Amino acid sequence: MNDRTSTLGDPVTDDALTRPFTGASPYDTYVHASVLNSLQHPLTEAPDEMGFLVTSQVMELWFTLIVHEWRTARVAFAKDDLPAALDGLTRSRRALTALNGAWTPIAALTPAQFNGFRAAFGKASGFQSAMYRHMEFLLGDKSAALLRAHRGDPAVHEALAETYREPSLYDEVLAHLHRQGLPVPRHVLERDMTSPYTADPGVTEAWRQIYAGPQHHPHLALGELLTDIAELVTRWRFDHVLVVRRAMGAKPGSAGSAGLAWLEERAARPVFPELWEVRGDV
Ligand code: HEM
Repeated sequence: MNDRTSTLGDPVTDDALTRPFTGASPYDTYVHASVLNSLQHPLTEAPDEMGFLVTSQVMELWFTLIVHEWRTARVAFAKDDLPAALDGLTRSRRALTALNGAWTPIAALTPAQFNGFRAAFGKASGFQSAMYRHMEFLLGDKSAALLRAHRGDPAVHEALAETYREPSLYDEVLAHLHRQGLPVPRHVLERDMTSPYTADPGVTEAWRQIYAGPQHHPHLALGELLTDIAELVTRWRFDHVLVVRRAMGAKPGSAGSAGLAWLEERAARPVFPELWEVRGDV
């Protein structure tokens, strides 16, 4: 064998790559891969449980990223820094697309496959995900009852209570539009931020002025980006409904809801309602 073949064919002969680390690798120190990869503890031998567990964990991480981007955008709106706000929303749109792709490993579970591990996790349910609740509160879908459910875990509860009390992402969008001269009504800006956001005809009118205006209106791109986000959130909810219908039909949920019927009702809740209503007015 000549030298040329052996050096070209085997990258691990490169000294710089194979020098032993002192302790954990810089990668592990930064990414904490060994921590992440030590968190999978299936409760059964059922072959489908690992996919279910990892999918849930991966989705939790995407929730974390989406919450981070929406908070970044919210701060930028409060400073009327539209380019930074649009950047944050654009990154969140990509994260939402990845989130929705994460259904694939468990999208076709049969009832028998799901039953193989369902009893083992007892009353656990994604319904108890605090990070998903941060997402909903940031969208404006506040709920005192859903916050109260986390009272038993003080750190989680306090973090969620903060998101509950603060203006939502959408509240900051509307305040920004108002400062830019759009007719967002004062009572919307001064509303109780802990109540769930409901559609307001004055806000629809503000969006109508944007949508009926010139195609290069800077806030038209904002409206469309928010509509993309609303659509991707809604798609996540309906994909969830389909996965549930396939895996367990109309059986009751593990957290105690009616299951499918309850989820269908939740999925139909509009995200950024006036951005859908305005389409009938232009
Ligand atoms: C076979 C897969 C799944 C089934 C059969 C299922 C079933 C259900 C059911 C029946 C509910 C209603 C609440 C209850 O009574 O438990 C629910 C809620 C929920 N699930 Fe899943 N789920 C699945 C996968 C996932 C995954 C992978 C996630 C990601 C973390 C997730 C996140 C959620 C969330 C966030 C809710 C609350 C929705 C809301 O409040 O509107 N689910 N799930």
